[in-house]
Amino acid sequence: MAMNDPLANAPRRVTICEVGPRDGLQNEATPIATADKIRFCDLLSDAGVTFLEATSFVSPTAVPQMSDAAEVYAGIRKDPDRTYIVLTPNERGLDRALAAGVRAIGVFTAASEAFTQANIRMSIDASIDTFSNVVRRAKAAGVWVRASISTAFGCPFQGTVPVADVVRVCERLLAIGVDELSVADTIGVGTPNQVIEVVNALRNVVSFDRVGLHFHDTRGTALANVLTALPCGIHIFDASAGGLGGCPFAPGATGNVATEDLVYMLHGMNIETGIDLTKLRTASRFMATRLGRPLASRAYTGLEAADARAARLAAAST
Ligand code: COA
Ligand code: ZN
Repeated sequence: MAMNDPLANAPRRVTICEVGPRDGLQNEATPIATADKIRFCDLLSDAGVTFLEATSFVSPTAVPQMSDAAEVYAGIRKDPDRTYIVLTPNERGLDRALAAGVRAIGVFTAASEAFTQANIRMSIDASIDTFSNVVRRAKAAGVWVRASISTAFGCPFQGTVPVADVVRVCERLLAIGVDELSVADTIGVGTPNQVIEVVNALRNVVSFDRVGLHFHDTRGTALANVLTALPCGIHIFDASAGGLGGCPFAPGATGNVATEDLVYMLHGMNIETGIDLTKLRTASRFMATRLGRPLASRAYTGLEAADARAARLAAAST
């Protein structure tokens, strides 16, 4: 009965921003061939991904794995109805992205001072100054802008991050004209009560059509956090295929909530995502083969094992 249904207010449709090719692959120590990155993105598009964080135009010294950003962006299939986001940490990144013809960028700062310094070698204030130029130029070129707020649920250097700090950074990013926010639990420490606090604090700051949540699953709370955010009205979530990823500043940090796990849960709840789980697994399987190791995603692993068993039984019975 709806009256007793705590999920009655959950959205009927969720938009997933697939970040595997960027947040996932940037943490891989061994170089991945450009052609494989492109194939991975295209398989994700085949699976129905409409928001894809494809690569990042960051310093190749800072993140060597992303040094082929221009080639990756040039090579991927780009459907005019879909959004392919590339990260740009500064104007140099924006110049490179504009030269590559991108239509959507992501800028990124953090809710904690120490993390911002470690990640992009700037204070939060300096990052907002940098981004105000980046955003102004991007908007003038008709480019859509997403802004990520790292460490919104905890920081590897500072520990607790006050919700007021998260809100302040979000407000400043909105004030410089970004189109969408991605509020991130970069190191996967957040718990559902924190999600409620952060989401409630943002309710009067930004329309929930313009804010996504980005959870890492380091301590196994990512899906619980998504489930908590849904009835609050949040309907945009970042996820990475197979659960790829980590964080260079958080030892032992695992990847984002796995797209397979998220899609499996949402579809089970009759919430649409537009993503085909079988085709999504094809994309993840391709990358798992290239990386030569198992993936973190529970849904991926379980469904692959079930299919392998069914295939063995079918072979045995013929
Ligand atoms: N693309 C390519 N090269 C860039 C660049 C960009 N966007 N920004 C800076 N560089 C180059 C500079 O040209 C310079 O090169 P040089 O050493 O050959 O002269 C070098 O990088 C250092 O530039 P500087 O402006 O001093 O940057 P920095 O060392 O203070 O680093 C960032 C600042 C933001 C560029 C760097 O920390 C970075 O790219 N961080 C990204 C981290 C990331 O991706 N995190 C994950 C996402 S949350
Ligand atoms: Zn992340």
